[in-house]
Amino acid sequence: MTNDNLWYKDAVFYQISVRAFKDSDGDGYGDLRGIKEKLDYLQTLGVDCLWLMPIYPSPLRDDGYDIADYSNIDPMYGTLDDFASLINAAHARGIRIIMDLVLNHTSDEHPWFKASRSDKNSPFREYYVWSDTDQKYKDTRIIFVDTEKSNWTWDEKTEQYYWHRFYASQPDLNFDNPKVQEEMINVARFWLDLGVDGFRADAVPYLFEREGTNCENLPETHIYLKKLRAFMEANYPGKILLCEANQWPEDVRPYFGDGDEFHMGFHFPIMPRIYMALKKERADDMIEILSRTPSIPENCQWCTFLRNHDELTLEMVTPEERQWMWEQYAPEPRMRINLGIRRRLAPLLDNDRRKIELANSLLFTLPGSPIVYYGDEIGMGDNIELPDRNGVRTPMQWDNSANAGFTSGRPFAPVIQNYPRINVAGQVDEKDSLFHTIRRMIETRKKYPAFGHGAMEWINVDNPALAVYTRSLQGITLLVINNLSASPQKVSLPAELHGGHVNLIAETRTKIDMSLDLQPYEYRWLKRI
Ligand code: NOJ
Repeated sequence: MTNDNLWYKDAVFYQISVRAFKDSDGDGYGDLRGIKEKLDYLQTLGVDCLWLMPIYPSPLRDDGYDIADYSNIDPMYGTLDDFASLINAAHARGIRIIMDLVLNHTSDEHPWFKASRSDKNSPFREYYVWSDTDQKYKDTRIIFVDTEKSNWTWDEKTEQYYWHRFYASQPDLNFDNPKVQEEMINVARFWLDLGVDGFRADAVPYLFEREGTNCENLPETHIYLKKLRAFMEANYPGKILLCEANQWPEDVRPYFGDGDEFHMGFHFPIMPRIYMALKKERADDMIEILSRTPSIPENCQWCTFLRNHDELTLEMVTPEERQWMWEQYAPEPRMRINLGIRRRLAPLLDNDRRKIELANSLLFTLPGSPIVYYGDEIGMGDNIELPDRNGVRTPMQWDNSANAGFTSGRPFAPVIQNYPRINVAGQVDEKDSLFHTIRRMIETRKKYPAFGHGAMEWINVDNPALAVYTRSLQGITLLVINNLSASPQKVSLPAELHGGHVNLIAETRTKIDMSLDLQPYEYRWLKRI
């Protein structure tokens, strides 16, 4: 593992649903020991840092984002010792581990909330946001629009409403209470002491509420997050905070502060525009959003992704674009949820290997550190029969044995039935598989830090179907050409890019003179020789 405190700028991340990754004890649920068994695989893939989805005890009404105990692990996933042992084993291989830190809300089964709702005079009453009326904060949008009618829920016993930005079973903590602020710093300390390398901080725009605002991105929120960062910086240098703020780039920018708030932030708006680019066969939406993305401090980094455990969110597009995306990518109503699409990468791209590779080419070469969602490296499918977002959280497909080698017991959810064909073992054995292409992309990206933190420049080639740009760092310039269209394209490149090049993925040579011919959805990562 490098000692470099800026490691995250060049890292490739891998997101794991612990429940769905690998079951080591036959109870049908993935667990921490299961991940440990699969570290060889993750090392072969070449990822630098794992992001584990929530493993805290939880009634699982929001898949663990509803926490009932912040300093424990749900027995279904293992013990604190198992976690420490996984972290050590991962570190020994140079792989870091970050976990979810859910600051904004708890489960309604958390003892704080149980005490809070038991009595208006409970010392825990002030841990949550209570009100006599549900007319406060009316300018605040509802996030889970399919299920929640209000951000307030009436409590029969104490006859007040409590505030929640997500499910009613996830009451928001009251960050105006200094005790809450301190409790959450203690939570961070607990896990950092256990050895985690940082946190993906969930739902951070919503920590505070103020009348007359939309209760998002408030100045008080930044003050608190800076405190959390200062605490980490002072005690755990090199450990990171990754910001989940599903917002426009200019609204995410303040979460980096002056390099004293978050180390990283998801770039939500670029994601749907990659899918738009592939359908429209045009690069302009990507170019537009990156051009309106403010620059960030030197010690910060964007985090890019194609898919994750949630719906493919369409919050960061216009209503017309959202409608269009639904029509294009979610033709059946049950593929839609809230403001998004509950499908996985491969089925979204028609299981077309060329499109899947092209989307990954963009992911791995545009600015930011990429996150791969477990299973997308083998082109795993989804199951739209399952409720909520569970259809994209199905068991990992390891091999062609029963239950795809995920468990010897009864899997917590049905395995996607294409597993005899789509599984890790088969793809590791097959040198031309999607797995090996992704592995090669990761390897190449790590060999050339220009992809991680080099400058990026669009090359104007007078052909909207092509996304052409350079990434350069310390005298090394890499040229990336992506053909977004289903038809062959010719690209004319400026004279300064002419000459002999090596294709870093295919390991072939190309001579660029006046123009270059590209196959449908072809991409090339080129370096001058
Ligand atoms: C964002 C998480 O990604 C999502 O899965 C969860 O439902 C909400 N935050 C609430 O914690």
